[in-house]
Amino acid sequence: MSTRRSSAVDTALVLRKLDVPEGVRLHSENVKEIALAVARRVAARGKRVDLGLVEAGALLHDVGRAATHGPAHCSKGAEMLRKEGVPEKVARFAETHFLGGLTAGEAGALGLPSKDSIPHSIEEKIVCYADKVSDSGKILRMHGYAGGNSPAYKRILKLMREVEGMAGGKLETVRDFDAMVAVEKGGKYLVLKRKSPKIWEFPGGAIEWGESPQQAARRECEEECGLKVAVGKVLGTTSAVYEKGGKLKHAVYIVFSGKAVGGKLRLSREHTSARWVGKKELSSLSLGFNARPVVDFLKK
Ligand SMILES: [Fe+2]
Repeated sequence: MSTRRSSAVDTALVLRKLDVPEGVRLHSENVKEIALAVARRVAARGKRVDLGLVEAGALLHDVGRAATHGPAHCSKGAEMLRKEGVPEKVARFAETHFLGGLTAGEAGALGLPSKDSIPHSIEEKIVCYADKVSDSGKILRMHGYAGGNSPAYKRILKLMREVEGMAGGKLETVRDFDAMVAVEKGGKYLVLKRKSPKIWEFPGGAIEWGESPQQAARRECEEECGLKVAVGKVLGTTSAVYEKGGKLKHAVYIVFSGKAVGGKLRLSREHTSARWVGKKELSSLSLGFNARPVVDFLKK
């Protein structure tokens, strides 16, 4: 195994300072999860990969979207990162993730600074790849945008083949649907701390085959915290991509309101503690990225 961790960039601080929208942050978390899963497989096959650099690059690759969603988000993002003093090797991820990278000529033709923005390092290739895999509709949209015969589109396909070759093939993907509940009591909400990773989350879990989302929400609350819960309205939906058991999982969450109507609080083996917290305190907790959108749902 050859992995190394580069000197850390405080990505959370940079994202906050640049006022990167929550939707872009969640996408970047998904890209990070995919990129790290791929990077670990590449490393396990004997290649040298800097996991810290992959992580920082994935989390910051789209900061330019705080300013624009057009092609200029790449060059703009790199410029914003350089202004924040982010090391050049990290700033480059903003420039090199667009399509499969651009030559200086292609960048100039799009009205971007005429500079080489091709992903060259193994870390840049992995993040560019993960960005494409994060949304399977992306390749189709790129086909429409760049044209199937364009050098830019052919470069994307070549990059995907190259990264999958280094990783020993495509990662298997699975999807599941989960019910999540914001259980309320006296104006406070129940959050549970996971054993690993040590993040706070709302009770919930996979909807079993044939089960309704509401049934799953009630069952999961009882299993995870011993409470009988009257499940209310849908507060919103969200989704996340992460690695589980060597596969990439895309989980779609249906988030319900709920009231505790019976039972006694007790934890399952998955969690180490439980707390009832007010809306303000919720945002100061270290929440899992699937739980973060719920704080906004509760504000509405
Ligand atoms: Fe992206």
